[in-house]
This record gives sequence, structure tokens and C-alpha cells, in this order.
Amino acid sequence: MSKKYTITIAGGGSTYTPGIILMLMEETYRFPIRGIKLYDNLASRQEPIGKAMEILLKERHPEIEFSYTTDPEEAFTGIDFVFAHIRVGLYAMRELDEKIPLKYDVVGQETCGPGGIAYGMRSIGGVLEILDYMEKYSPNAWMLNYSNPAAIVAEATRRLRPHSRIINICDMPVALENIMANILGLSSRKEMVVRYYGLNHFGWWTSITDKAGKDLMPELKAFVKEKGYAKETEDYQHRAQSWKDTYLMAKDTYALDPDTVPNTYLKYYLLQDEVVAHSDKNYTRANEVMDSREKEVFGTARKIIEQGSAEGCQFAMGAHATFVVDLACALAFNTKERMLLIVPNNGAISNFDEDAMVEIPCLVGSDGPEPLSIGKIPTFQKGLMEQQVAVEKLTVDAWIEHSYQKMWQALTLSKTVPGAKVAKKILDELIEANKAYWPELK
Ligand code: NAD
Ligand code: G6P
Ligand code: MN
Repeated sequence: MSKKYTITIAGGGSTYTPGIILMLMEETYRFPIRGIKLYDNLASRQEPIGKAMEILLKERHPEIEFSYTTDPEEAFTGIDFVFAHIRVGLYAMRELDEKIPLKYDVVGQETCGPGGIAYGMRSIGGVLEILDYMEKYSPNAWMLNYSNPAAIVAEATRRLRPHSRIINICDMPVALENIMANILGLSSRKEMVVRYYGLNHFGWWTSITDKAGKDLMPELKAFVKEKGYAKETEDYQHRAQSWKDTYLMAKDTYALDPDTVPNTYLKYYLLQDEVVAHSDKNYTRANEVMDSREKEVFGTARKIIEQGSAEGCQFAMGAHATFVVDLACALAFNTKERMLLIVPNNGAISNFDEDAMVEIPCLVGSDGPEPLSIGKIPTFQKGLMEQQVAVEKLTVDAWIEHSYQKMWQALTLSKTVPGAKVAKKILDELIEANKAYWPELK
């Protein structure tokens, strides 16, 4: 393990950046770091986080070379990994993604339904830009992409950059597996061997055993049936009451198919009316995040800068951060760790579109993810997934072809939207709101 790695965090001004850096610092014993660079295209976000992290790293890990910049050449030269978590349009646009559909009594969500489609239309260009910078300045690097909506971004990169070293990832299964381990009285999710399939934010666990092969599903199901995933845990990232409500609602999506246990995001597609009824049209999750996580992270950063020291200041780490280090280790050291990743199906789900991006277990080594075989999936899941994957593909078509018609079809096909006319009204408002970000649709 003589090599040390240099990482660029793209979206360096993200609320998650301090958590990722803390995690990297904690894990240097297994993932040695030479340097960390932050890159953001917005100096006003990059500066406070950059300055604060510079102070913190100097105190705790002065041997790590650290810099922050808005210059792509500086950011992407001489690096081994890009950890990307950009949000094109910032929270201001997330707020509109959530509020515009809600006006029409349609789910308003960051990655699901019309809001997710709108966000996808903004993200594709931003993620491609970062990938192209990486390939230009450090062609052998890997990009581990968290930028949402991961499903649409993954479909776009599969189609437009098929040979690129990008892996699209999500922390929801990891966060839920942490809770499952807690429900089952295990000390870590890594004591479980799981089978899972689906799309990003759209999947099911079919089997969970311990390392000796003991079936843990009966005990888990007994809990999920009553309480979903509502178990007190130290899940900082999902600690808000609205997340706790989401965890509880998993019992109702579980009821639809008691052979599996569901990803929490299925509520937006299966319980859409109830979700809308419980939404506050004037105060959505974007408002909650702006009033909590964003304030806390930037408040802490300001405090560190003012006092010139990080003493007594704390940033939180989430599931987001641990997983990305596991993945980087798997790629760097060929560990063949088994992880859930978003990859081309290529026959892994034998009765599903070969070209779909699916979220399934893979063994990860230095040449990337090797997907495991899933076999045939049941009609209920297959039907839901076919509809949703078509939405994601039509969105990418619309972005590539600048097609209004395909965008309208995408919204209409989303299971969150009741009909074509309301889809058109929502679309027309989203086009107006996204003028600065979307390609012009014809
Ligand atoms: P944030 O708005 O705090 O941070 C995003 C940063 O990206 C901002 O500083 C912004 O200026 C920057 N940015 C936007 N466009 C850019 C571009 N083209 N180049 C460089 N930088 C750019 O957002 P956040 O809440 O911290 O979330 C960041 C991202 O991580 C979001 O996409 C979010 O959905 C995603 N996320 C994904 C997962 C997952 O499971 N995949 C988990 C957590 C967060
Ligand atoms: C989960 C998902 C992410 C998503 C996040 C939103 O972790 O896996 O994809 O971005 O939740 O959390 P927030 O606190 O921003 O609503
Ligand atoms: Mn996710």
C-alpha cells in the first residue's frame, strides 16, 4: 500500500463536502491520501467550505495536500478519483422542482416524478462537463458520481459516454441496510449478505442472510410489516421528521409485496395520493434542507474561519461518505467487495431490457463493477420498472434531441402523474422555470 491517492471533490461547495473529508481523514489507515482538491463552479459556495476545510486539515492532517479552486485544469490535473456531488441549479431550483408539480396535486420530489425529470434535464450537462474535465486532465481516474437524479444521469452517461470510467451510486440502500442491521441486532450492515434489484430509488431486497447463510428475512419482515424502517438509529443524514415519516411508510409499500422488502422511494410511485395529501405546498423538503443542513454546514464553516481554528466545531458524516470510501478502496485495491451500484443491465435481470441502467449487487475490483446475475423478476416489479425506465430514457432522449414531445411523454408516463393534460401544464411551468438550465425544447 505504498501509493497514496489524490481526490477531487466536484461540487466542493456541497453540504456533503465536509462529511466526505472527515470520512477520508478517518479512513487514511486503509485509503492513504496524498491530496484533496475541491472544485466548484461557484466561488461563493466554494470559498467558505474551502477555507474552513483548509484550517481543519492543517490542524488534523497537515501531511495532506489541500487546495480549492474554480479552475477546472487545476482541479482535475494529477488526480486518481473524482467524487462528484453537484447540484445544478442549487436548492432554489430544487424548491421549484418540488413546488410546481405540487400545485397540480402531483408528487413534488427531488428525484422522483416531474421534479426528478426537471432536475435530470439540468444535471446531465453538469455531470458530462465534470466527466470531460476528468478525462482531459486525468484520463486514468475514476469518477464516483452521487449527483442526482442518479438514474437519469446514469442513463445519460451510458448513452453519451459509454467508455468512461464513471460509476453512479446511491446511499439509500446503504442507509437502509444500516437500519436493517440495527433491527436485526447486528453490529454492522457488512454482516449481512443481500440480494437486491431495481432501478435507482426504485428497488427491492429479495434475500438477506448472515455470513453463515441464515435467513434473516422473516425477522426483518416482521418488523417492516409493523413499522417500516422506523427504528431509532444514528442516521444523521436522514434524521428529520419527514425522513422518519418516510421510513414508517415503507410498511405500506411492503404490504403490496410481502415477498420482498422495499426501498423507501417506492412510496412516491405506489402511495402518490397519500404523499401529496401529506405535503405542504408552501414548505417542501428543499425549504427544510435550506433551514437546517445548509445553515448548519455554512454556519460551522463561517465559525471556523472566524476563529481561525476548527477546535470545538463539528461537521456530520452520513452514509454517503462511508460508502464512497468503500468503493474507492475496491477500485484501488481490487477488493472485490460486493456493493449495490447503478450499472447497465446487460442480461443480469434476464427478463428486462439489456440497455436499462439497473441497481444491483456487483463485485468491484480494479477494472470496475462486475454485476451479479439476478435472473427473472416477477410481473409486478417488471411492470413498474419498465414504466419507470421508459420515463428515464425519454428524458435523456428529450435532452439529446431537444424534444418537447419526448419530454411530455416522459412526464405523462411517470406513475406519479395522473394524465397527459396535467403533465403538459406542469411541463410548461417547468420549462419556464428552467430556462437558464435546459436545452431549448422544440
Ligand atoms: P448543494 O447545493 O449543497 O451542493 C452542490 C454544489 O454543486 C454547489 O456548491 C454548486 O455550486 C455545485 N455545482 C453545481 N453545478 C456545478 C458544476 N457544473 N460544476 C461544479 N460544481 C457545481 O447540494 P447537496 O444537498 O449538498 O447535494 C449535492 C448533490 O449530492 C445533489 O445532487 C444531491 O442530490 C446528491 N446526493 C446524492 C446522494 C445519492 O444517494 N446519490 C446522496 C446525497 C446527496
Ligand atoms: C437519500 C438519497 C439521495 C438524496 C437524499 C436527499 O440519501 O439516496 O439520493 O439526495 O436522500 O436527502 P435530503 O436530506 O437532501 O432531502
Ligand atoms: Mn440516492
